[in-house]
Amino acid sequence: MSATLPAELAAALKNAAAEIEQTLDALLPLPEGPEARLFEAMRYAAMGGGKRLRGFLVIEGARQFSVARASALRVAAAIEMLHAYSLVHDDLPAMDDDDLRRGKPSTHKAFDEATAILAGDALQAHAFWVLSEEDTHSDPAVRAELVRCLAKAAGARGMCGGQMLDMLAEGAGEPLDEPAIGRLQLLKTGRLIEFAAEAGAILGKAAPLPRHALAAYGRDLGAAFQIADDLLDATASAEEAGKRTGKDAAAGKATLVALLGKERARIQAARLVEQACAHLDSFGERADRLRDLATYTVQRKS
Ligand code: IPE
Ligand code: IPE
Ligand code: MG
Ligand code: MG
Ligand code: MG
Repeated sequence: MSATLPAELAAALKNAAAEIEQTLDALLPLPEGPEARLFEAMRYAAMGGGKRLRGFLVIEGARQFSVARASALRVAAAIEMLHAYSLVHDDLPAMDDDDLRRGKPSTHKAFDEATAILAGDALQAHAFWVLSEEDTHSDPAVRAELVRCLAKAAGARGMCGGQMLDMLAEGAGEPLDEPAIGRLQLLKTGRLIEFAAEAGAILGKAAPLPRHALAAYGRDLGAAFQIADDLLDATASAEEAGKRTGKDAAAGKATLVALLGKERARIQAARLVEQACAHLDSFGERADRLRDLATYTVQRKS
């Protein structure tokens, strides 16, 4: 992790990541029976790596409204399952064709393509199942709202739509302009991070104003996060990033780094971090970790 990471945030991230790992371990089926290979691939993809940034956002958002930790952890684990599914499919040969993820072979390399596709599908379904279960929240209306919002963030008007735009832009004759890249990134990365930030407010039955503030924070953070990811692709080594780098330019990916250059992309990311934090002005000291996290997001080295 980056040397610029404040010790308090580093400890909180580490602690949350360990708790999320335990929750995933408890929620994901153990490999057994004739379909054990599927369960094994699901656990391989979802466990044992990742920064757990989305899960951490759920936990810290929930803390603003004193939500029970066990509820927040189930939602954090569900989002991390959905995110893991998006990575498994993103790495497939038909998409980014990447053989390294979180410092180990991508799921389709460790298993095979059919197993990776099914593991992604099953992780996605499992995420919604977890949200809908009574243990997540005693109020069925809260559970339904979590399911509704995650469905929106993950589907055609969210992550999948953004991934479609990302694939269409690859090697397209006419490069995308800045607003079009902004929209692509809002959908493919921003919507899920927005939901992660908002989920704690949903769990805590927060008033519309603080709920919208957290969502707006997540949206700007998501935009900054994808610029940082694109900068890492252009500057970091595979060892640092835990995934192949230097591939976006070669594939002709539509990124702000390609359009504006590294320096202007960095400035844009810093501006988005400021904007993200401004949405937290009505929150007190309890939101300091969310503020620090925003800064870390653009300074991270992995
Ligand atoms: C990678 O996300 C995919 C993007 C949306 C850029 P992360 O950088 O959060 O991946 P992990 O979960 O830490 O591996
Ligand atoms: C992927 O973006 C975003 C997803 C929705 C999975 P990238 O393709 O840039 O993510 P990495 O660099 O492979 O992690
Ligand atoms: Mg991709
Ligand atoms: Mg990729
Ligand atoms: Mg990338």
